Amino acid sequence: MTPPTAAVVGQLARDLVLTVDRVPDAGASASATGRREQLGGKGANQAVALAQLGVRPTLVAVAGDDVIGDVLLDQARRDGIDTSAVVRRRDTLTGVIVEVLAADATYRYVEDLPLLGPADIAAADGRIRRADAVLLQLQQPPEAVLAAARIGRDAGRLVVLDGAPADADRDELLGLADVVRADDKEAELLLGLPADDPDRVRDAAHDLLKAGPKLIAVALAEGGNLFVWAGGEILVPLGDDPVIDTTGGGDAFVAALTDALLRGRSYPDAARWANRASAATVGHAGGRPDLTGLVRHV
Ligand SMILES: Nc1ncnc2c1ncn2[C@@H]1O[C@H](COP(=O)(O)OP(=O)(O)O)[C@@H](O)[C@H]1O
Ligand SMILES: [Mg+2]
Repeated sequence: MTPPTAAVVGQLARDLVLTVDRVPDAGASASATGRREQLGGKGANQAVALAQLGVRPTLVAVAGDDVIGDVLLDQARRDGIDTSAVVRRRDTLTGVIVEVLAADATYRYVEDLPLLGPADIAAADGRIRRADAVLLQLQQPPEAVLAAARIGRDAGRLVVLDGAPADADRDELLGLADVVRADDKEAELLLGLPADDPDRVRDAAHDLLKAGPKLIAVALAEGGNLFVWAGGEILVPLGDDPVIDTTGGGDAFVAALTDALLRGRSYPDAARWANRASAATVGHAGGRPDLTGLVRHV
């Protein structure tokens, strides 16, 4: 079988992860207990995860015209990502994310990221149109996200949203989406209520199906991910393994969910697969997934 393909519309960044026992106070310093420097940003993380799962990803993102951009794109190609739709923007620094990760699994991010515009999406039209799935990160400007969603829908592709849409574009975007996934904070924005009341979240998620998506996956504040679709739902609890860093857990989740749906798996199977991919990512520092060892049951 030819491998499925996916276009990922989102961030690409140099990801610098520094682990500390304790975050220093203002005016103080801390020695890092660990360090990772790697290809990162949500778009790249999702694309890496897809490639590791055997889906061929193309990344639609912005890089600068600097040496860091060259290094990251070389890495992306080694990871099996088609980078031909990555824009090299002139006089721009490639994105950077500095993550300071404490021993209690809390993190602080400082980011400087160039963003996609509608012209970048238009230039990638063919790549997006040809992919079996289109993954859209809602941290990008709404006009860019909408443009990509319209292309995906027009071409009859699986349109997957990660995050909570801005109010102004909410109705149109939800109408274009097949799948919407939100972490617990995003779920509050998406559903308009606190994520800590599972019954209300469940009702609101079922209600949201009327806006267009066929599958909605939301993380609950108390842990676990709830998946709802017309006539069904499943609550998948989190694993018991120690959590080092939840960064990238959602990216691996979205990638695995997409992978399973493209392979025709049922919603409950896809839900469990997404949860396993996220569990396999939160056990290490930094957002880069490592899913190559994940074994499919079926
Ligand atoms: N022990 C765990 N097992 C499985 N998933 C987990 C575990 N701990 C956290 N998660 C999941 O990690 C995800 C983190 O999502 P998110 O905050 O969107 O991450 P990011 O945007 O950095 O990729 C959530 O869906 C949460 O349910
Ligand atoms: Mg996320």
